[in-house]
Amino acid sequence: MSDELTKEINRRRTFAIISHPDAGKTTLTEKLLLFGGAIHVAGAVKSNKIKKTATSDWMEIEKQRGISVATSVMGFNYGDYKINILDTPGHQDFAEDTFRTLTAVDSVIIVVDAAKGVETQTRRLMEVCRMRKTPVIIFVNKMDREGRDPFDILDELEQELHIGVRPLTWPINMGERFKGVYNIYEHGLDLFTPSKQTVSERVEIDDVNSPEVDRLVGEENATKLREDLELIEGVYPEFDKEAYLRGEVAPVFFGSALNTFGVKELLDCFVEIAPAPRPVMAVEREVRPEEDSFTGFVFKIHANMDPNHRSCIAFVKVCSGKFERNVYYKHVRQDKMMRFAAPTAFMAQKKSVVDEAYPGDIVGIPDTGNFKIGDTLTAGELLHFKGLPSFSPEMFKYIENADPMKSKQLEKGINQLMDEGVAQLFTNQFNGRKIIGTVGQLQFEVIQYRLLHEYGAQCRWEPISLYKACWIESDDEQALEAFKKRKHQFMATDKEGRDVFLADSNYVLQMAQSDFPKIRFHFSSEF
Ligand code: G4P
Repeated sequence: MSDELTKEINRRRTFAIISHPDAGKTTLTEKLLLFGGAIHVAGAVKSNKIKKTATSDWMEIEKQRGISVATSVMGFNYGDYKINILDTPGHQDFAEDTFRTLTAVDSVIIVVDAAKGVETQTRRLMEVCRMRKTPVIIFVNKMDREGRDPFDILDELEQELHIGVRPLTWPINMGERFKGVYNIYEHGLDLFTPSKQTVSERVEIDDVNSPEVDRLVGEENATKLREDLELIEGVYPEFDKEAYLRGEVAPVFFGSALNTFGVKELLDCFVEIAPAPRPVMAVEREVRPEEDSFTGFVFKIHANMDPNHRSCIAFVKVCSGKFERNVYYKHVRQDKMMRFAAPTAFMAQKKSVVDEAYPGDIVGIPDTGNFKIGDTLTAGELLHFKGLPSFSPEMFKYIENADPMKSKQLEKGINQLMDEGVAQLFTNQFNGRKIIGTVGQLQFEVIQYRLLHEYGAQCRWEPISLYKACWIESDDEQALEAFKKRKHQFMATDKEGRDVFLADSNYVLQMAQSDFPKIRFHFSSEF
């Protein structure tokens, strides 16, 4: 273990910002980049949102995909820290993409709209964080608008996200009467001046009872603040960094991303408490970041950088050691040594060729079809990183060939799109028909479009009514065989050849669970 490596690891913070669309993720990301000096004016980060209304606008999707590669990973330096923000698609139909990105981060910031509270997508993404015990910080945004009572928001966060909360800043009024936040963590008063570009004014306060507070925010607000703080100290235990790192307690900040208010406080606290790259579990063993040998895994593939050459970028998260350009590494699944002449790093929204990268960093590797999501790269060791599960899709359709002359192209296209993680493929064991499972309708449209434009293949969708795909297993081989026999019409194989039961309704699933107690049903492919 070298000192240089340890130093580089300790200064890295790799995280994702997650939220329900419109809560302010893009705005907050942009403000964080402003503080890091990565951009110089607000408005420089394009939202990668695919607007709901644009579901049939293909060019729009293509354009969005172009934008999202530029903002897929945003690296910048802040003080002594190297920060990597991993972007997640805003549209819920690409939730699967977000799930996978969450496997490559060491912590998460959740943005919640103060008026709307916890919304569906936040709840779902939080489930993934909980499963992985990812440390979470919450930013309650849009305090410059009329929102809900902050105590109600805290209650809702606790109940809906199933996590303990601890406010580290506290709002003084809201909407038009929003005066700022009291920084419980650092004992300071941050006064609010609406502005999209500048930073708020900080007044150090030793004692919240000092008359200075009344002078600055008005007597009524000051009294309310003191009462609120008393209540907070009474109700919420002291902030416990270890509990945060275990994913049990989320510190909460209040602010307004649009007004760059409360963002610096968030960032300063974030770099201090958020974890540096942590050990990662492989099937074979735990891999620690400070190990000398390089290891990493592919968590995202962005295809079609140039439609004429079918080029992709594979995003590799460095897990341990130092990654170096032009050094041979083992592509474990293909059992071959490969070296990369033009790996890219993502700094300040720009891609540039890098010579080396450290744990926590993301390297983009230009690829022409060698990589699949979940692939492991090592210095030679046989390792397989865990933690890239597929979740049961929500929507299913049969995919049929609409042009018999192009069946090879269709097959190739489907396989590559699935390797890229666009959707999931199940093959019915009974009749051999192929079923595509997605999280949302938009993915079917993207698949059809891309099959045609990138592979020259035409597909047709046919309806199938399914409720869930369940990966099944049992310790009792006979029970498993008996189940598969009884349900043979509903048995399918996933891309890795695992057995999947396709339940056509919740009722059928429940019946199966009670009729076959020896079978375990899983809603994700990793158990
Ligand atoms: P998202 O990435 O989470 O989807 O949200 P985004 O940042 O795009 O923000 C959604 C909308 O909320 C934007 O308005 C944005 O300006 C606004 N917003 C973000 N933070 C705040 C805040 O602190 N206060 C207030 N009042 N509004 C905020 P828009 O009208 O949809 O877009 P735009 O035309 O302003 O870009």
